[in-house]
Amino acid sequence: QLNDLAVRAGLKYFGTCASEGNVNSDTAYRNILNNKSEFGQLVPENGQKWDATEPSRGQFNYGSGDIVANVAKQNGQLLRCHTLVWYSQLPGWVSSGSWTRSSLQSVIETHINNVMGHYKGQCYAWDVVNEAVNDDGTWRPSVFLSTFNTDYFALSFRAAKAADPNTKLYYNDYNLEYNQAKTDKALELVRIVQAAGAPIDGVGFQGHLIVGSTPSRSALATVLRRFTALGVEVAYTELDIRHSSVPASSSALVTQGNDYANVVGSCLDVAGCVGVTIWGFTDKYSWIPQTFPGQGAALLYDNNMNKKPAWTSVSSVLAAK
Ligand code: G3I
Repeated sequence: QLNDLAVRAGLKYFGTCASEGNVNSDTAYRNILNNKSEFGQLVPENGQKWDATEPSRGQFNYGSGDIVANVAKQNGQLLRCHTLVWYSQLPGWVSSGSWTRSSLQSVIETHINNVMGHYKGQCYAWDVVNEAVNDDGTWRPSVFLSTFNTDYFALSFRAAKAADPNTKLYYNDYNLEYNQAKTDKALELVRIVQAAGAPIDGVGFQGHLIVGSTPSRSALATVLRRFTALGVEVAYTELDIRHSSVPASSSALVTQGNDYANVVGSCLDVAGCVGVTIWGFTDKYSWIPQTFPGQGAALLYDNNMNKKPAWTSVSSVLAAK
């Protein structure tokens, strides 16, 4: 089973995100999720985001975030926590407010302090800042960037450290895997935080990839090492590898398996790559068809909770270490 194999291969965990809406309503789904030998780590898909935890100013709500946190607690699974400072799923009172630096700083600190305080001691890691870089290597516009320029990175990480000193603090983003302008800018972000004397422990490679366009194992390892060279750990935090058209042919399913093996293999190859999290385990529940109509089937189990060829590829690459 994947987590057992991953731990034997030297990783801290093999995990998955879990969707709040299905945890208590789909028994087949829940049974797989409960298997710690398969998934040693969980992350809430949506419940810890700002729109869920602080929908209006000062009104904190942990009903949704606690759903997956409680599953992990019951099963003794690690919990990754996601996410604090992100332009998306950000309630309108934050994104459309008119702020000074000090008023928005206080809003960020209050948010971080409350949410991380609620989960204190439960999270292996927190994604403190999420998706702050555009694909073209510029900073992504947001109320945070327009108010602070890049100073919001360090102030967010500092607030996070104060709220829970014993969790790993991550920057998390997608499309870092291609070693292009976006990767350079994310490296710059890490250096900016470090130069400010603020704490940052890790960088999450989301790994939202495409069958047939996934970089090779050695190219992926090279990118991971550019970050570990700065003294941070790395992890794949939201891995899924989608077919650009579904249903997938049997040869496309084999390619998908090879792509998965390259990603997981690259983590095994890099000291400082601590684990792999897939963004859901079953094609039955995935964000992809909604966002990319006609694409999908990106995960390790099919719609009927049967293991796909990609599951076998992942288990083989883990077992071979
Ligand atoms: O909660 C509302 C519900 O009240 C309403 O009835 C329903 C109607 O559409 O929408 C629900 O909100 C949806 C939410 O998921 C919870 O299910 C949103 O429409 C939907 O857009 C949202 O999508 C999530 C997406 O983040 C939003 O940005 C996906 O589930 C989630 O998988 C996805 O995850 C992100 C990571 O957090 C960051 N990296 C990229 C990744 C994929 O986009």
